[in-house]
Amino acid sequence: MPDKKTYYITTPIYYPSGNMTIGHTYTTVAADTMARFKKMQGYDTYFLTGTDEHGQKIEKKAAEAGVTPIQYVDKIVAETKELWKLMNIDYDDFIRTSEDRHVRIVQKIFKQFYDQGDIYKAEYEGMYCTPCESFWTPTQLVEKDGQKVCPDCGRPCQPMKEESYFFRMNKYQDWMIDYIESHPDFIQPASRANEMLNNFLRPGLQDLCVSRTSVKWGVPVDFDPKHTVYVWIDALSNYITALGYGTDHDELFRKFWPADVHLVGKEIVRFHTIYWPIMLHALGLPLPKQVFGHGWLMFGADRMSKSKGNVVYPEPIVAHYGVDALRYYLMREMPFGADGNYTNESFLTRINADLANDLGNLVSRTVAMIEKYFDGIVPVWDENAVDEQMDNPLREHCAALPSLVEEQMDKLQFSQALVEIWKVIGECNKYIDGTQPWVLGRDPEKRGRLGNVLLILAECIRFVAVLIGPVMPNTPARIFEQLGVTDEALKSWDSLNCFGKLPEGIRVHKGDALFLRLDVKKELEILAAEKKMAPAPKAEPQAAAPKKEAPKVEIPEGCVSIDEFFRCKLRVAKVLACEPVKKSDKLLKFDLDLGSERRTILSGIAKFYKPEELIGKNLVIIANLPPRKMMGLESNGMILSAVEEKEDGSEYLRVLTIDGDIAPGSEVG
Ligand code: ME8
Ligand code: MG
Repeated sequence: MPDKKTYYITTPIYYPSGNMTIGHTYTTVAADTMARFKKMQGYDTYFLTGTDEHGQKIEKKAAEAGVTPIQYVDKIVAETKELWKLMNIDYDDFIRTSEDRHVRIVQKIFKQFYDQGDIYKAEYEGMYCTPCESFWTPTQLVEKDGQKVCPDCGRPCQPMKEESYFFRMNKYQDWMIDYIESHPDFIQPASRANEMLNNFLRPGLQDLCVSRTSVKWGVPVDFDPKHTVYVWIDALSNYITALGYGTDHDELFRKFWPADVHLVGKEIVRFHTIYWPIMLHALGLPLPKQVFGHGWLMFGADRMSKSKGNVVYPEPIVAHYGVDALRYYLMREMPFGADGNYTNESFLTRINADLANDLGNLVSRTVAMIEKYFDGIVPVWDENAVDEQMDNPLREHCAALPSLVEEQMDKLQFSQALVEIWKVIGECNKYIDGTQPWVLGRDPEKRGRLGNVLLILAECIRFVAVLIGPVMPNTPARIFEQLGVTDEALKSWDSLNCFGKLPEGIRVHKGDALFLRLDVKKELEILAAEKKMAPAPKAEPQAAAPKKEAPKVEIPEGCVSIDEFFRCKLRVAKVLACEPVKKSDKLLKFDLDLGSERRTILSGIAKFYKPEELIGKNLVIIANLPPRKMMGLESNGMILSAVEEKEDGSEYLRVLTIDGDIAPGSEVG
């Protein structure tokens, strides 16, 4: 017997610098859906996800939380695994870059590159800020009193040599261009291939810096231990270290490499379609068959309250509406490849329209009619009651559905695959309206015809139940329970090879509605209220959680601990617009850019500033205060300022601004 065909799919390994958001969930659900689909089709599948744990950012987060980097990431990783369990993510392996099995092989790969001459050590001169221990390029420095100074602290920098390893990307540039040009399916969507060619490859590839001496939390370069491996060699290798590449136990690697597809967000397509292929080529390994760069889920369009924080976490949504509803929404709402907005409103509207109405009603009406007219027993097919004109279009459409779905799934067009399924659901609902079973039910002569109609509907529902399984793993069992299908063979992909397999005589069971119809307005209020009570409860878990093993320090009366201080999120906010609040002589209303979001803050400083004086300034705000209403408007945070008390008892106020140019949203602390 020939070996089963294999299918290997991966997600990016995510940074555990904070809890995973609905954005990370999006990629992971897509990969899970695809893996489940291929498994259902009989492929031997392997689905890998994991975490990318090294680097300065995690080092810093851990220090802020008063724990070691590994303690910090252990906690987030445990919570990430909980989330994937909640989301019904059925991965085969979860790789952590801090694991020994990964670290050893990264060291080996790095050494091989060095021995082959793909990696070289170079010293280059940069400007060094000693107190900050940071290197800056000349363009990063800022001008102060005629002197070029550190953009972080404003102190003077000294020329200094930094030593780094570099990968000779340039050597492989022409090969890479050829490869992309001759493999049109390699980068998807195809538009991203042009972007790579035109923006990065044709203008000339720079050699890539692949080590750091200033980052301690990383994979040490074993032959030069003051260096750690920097970012991409460490991160990208996960796709093969997880399979045991380079070890004596590389059975999985031999079986599953090259990957069928790496799913990634569009911002990291470049690393996966230029650096990673070059690394693999330098190792003499085949390239992944495809890299799919999907679009971004954005959170900015929530017009109901635009001042809300912009990050959405899946847990509360699942708690209210169930995991299948969220998975369905994520896979259905936007075409894979395009950007789209997450809003609670579009989510609730979709559940109502597609799940409660279209699918839910079809199942409940059909089951109810079989109960009513046939005492709950699926009727016998009556050859004498066939109406070809009425029945054949639906039967044929449903019989063709598996291949229509397969065609879309093979292009990773989850949304289109669901559209195909919902076309059949819609046609079933029309078929009910057209055949009018309730009219047939009044005429004993039409009993055979009524039976055929209900049998066709039940069989269509069986097809639908099988095909939605990869997206909504919990729902098929609930449908089969209502239909009375117990035979596992009838729940399989293979059983959809012809229409009409549903056995007569099985007993249906009317059950609860598959999806409840929701009052959108009411649900929106509930979600908004919860969000206010618990502003992003899991966003900074380290701040709130008790810190294991951190040394206990007595905090003297009147002092705050550094942890307490960091619970207060100070951020740079750029003033986009500022205007007086009507009927108030104190308040100014600010429209602020926080990098990843916009917000409105009201501040009682109208006596001290004209609005136009502040536009374009970088201010400092407290970003995590609960929202507050003033003059009927909602304020979300506080602008920091200094107040001087004059001798005459009056006050003079100046806002805190930032020295030099820095990205809005930057952390202050
Ligand atoms: O980039 N919309 O990790 P990361 C869509 N460690 N997808 C989103 C998203 C959003 N709003 N937010 C996150 C890294 N994602 C590196 C990867 S791989 C060898 C190393 C998803 O934690 C999307 O897949 O920043 C994106 O590429 C990834 O999470 C970024 O995760
Ligand atoms: Mg990222």
